Amino acid sequence: MAKTTNINNRRYLGNKYRLLPFIKNIVEQECENVHTVVDIFSGTGAVASAFQDRQLITNDIMYSNYICNYAWFSPEPYDKKKLESMIDTYNSMQISEENYMTRNFADTYFSREDCARIGFIREDIEQNHTRKKINFRERALLITSLLYAMDKIAKTCGHYDAYRQGVTYDLHLQLHLPLASETNHAGNQCFHMDSNELAKEITADLVYIDPPYNSRQYCDAYHLLENVARWEQPEVFGVARKMDRTHLKSRYCTKEASAAFEDLINSLRCRYILLSYNNMATKGNDRSNAKISDEDIFRILNNKGEVKVFSEDYKAFSAGKSDIPDNQERLFLCICGNEEQP
Ligand SMILES: C[S@@+](CC[C@H](N)C(=O)[O-])C[C@H]1O[C@@H](n2cnc3c(N)ncnc32)[C@H](O)[C@@H]1O
Repeated sequence: MAKTTNINNRRYLGNKYRLLPFIKNIVEQECENVHTVVDIFSGTGAVASAFQDRQLITNDIMYSNYICNYAWFSPEPYDKKKLESMIDTYNSMQISEENYMTRNFADTYFSREDCARIGFIREDIEQNHTRKKINFRERALLITSLLYAMDKIAKTCGHYDAYRQGVTYDLHLQLHLPLASETNHAGNQCFHMDSNELAKEITADLVYIDPPYNSRQYCDAYHLLENVARWEQPEVFGVARKMDRTHLKSRYCTKEASAAFEDLINSLRCRYILLSYNNMATKGNDRSNAKISDEDIFRILNNKGEVKVFSEDYKAFSAGKSDIPDNQERLFLCICGNEEQP
């Protein structure tokens, strides 16, 4: 019988799962009549999951995150028994075929045997969807199950920037069924767009903004999960076996971050904006330095409405630099002026 898994059962840089009580508390204390919540840089969807009693819009530039968000939050019905049975079958199969995964990733992040299984399962999910044996939510739930299972056994050096050489592949791929709600709000929507494009198209009561803070591109750290989620089977390059990621690069990781942020805030039509941004601007190493200065954050948000800042001591964002003192996770709440409201 397939085991189950929860939304927070994966590693993700900047995941806010541990901050949910802090975030929820501020929304409850400071915001009124919040019926629609947008998580516009949703990543794992952890923050959206704290507002599952409201209408949700999730968005992330990465397809792999969109698929996981769709699995967790879409209102589309799914057949749990069918998925349990498919996952049990995948877990019990012996697979040794040659496929895209064995050809490109054997004995890197995963053993050859696990690559064979990942490639076989991913292709089988696609075939079942094409033949209409599973709907789009069921496809998303199975891909999510596969991505979470891969993440549990990957021999990475932190993320997928490099794999650990000469290791024993002691763990083997085991899929679990995502415990996704079957009663999500009928109006929920999931997107994978550039945040600034989506901002022009939506209105909401509250928009939660959690962009990348530094030069570290998420498509570099998670290229392999993105590759398997998309399943376009592209050529991969270099020791880390990365695909071309040009179209997934984020402006928020570059010197254009402030301009992108200003454009985003100006486009939003909502009553409240809640921004997560930590105070790493001048601490840590160059790669972990925040791209948007506090001065810019205040200038841009003050133009939009009344701003309040809340902070809580929180483990540093940068892997390997978690001992930096004074690092705080901060939330900026902007109560938007009347003219901005939907
Ligand atoms: C700090 S993480 C969000 C973490 C998330 N709150 C969580 O708890 O898992 C930032 C996310 O923004 C996404 N991203 C970066 N640039 C983007 C853009 N221009 N539009 C949409 N998403 C973007 C990244 O793929 C990444 O998942």
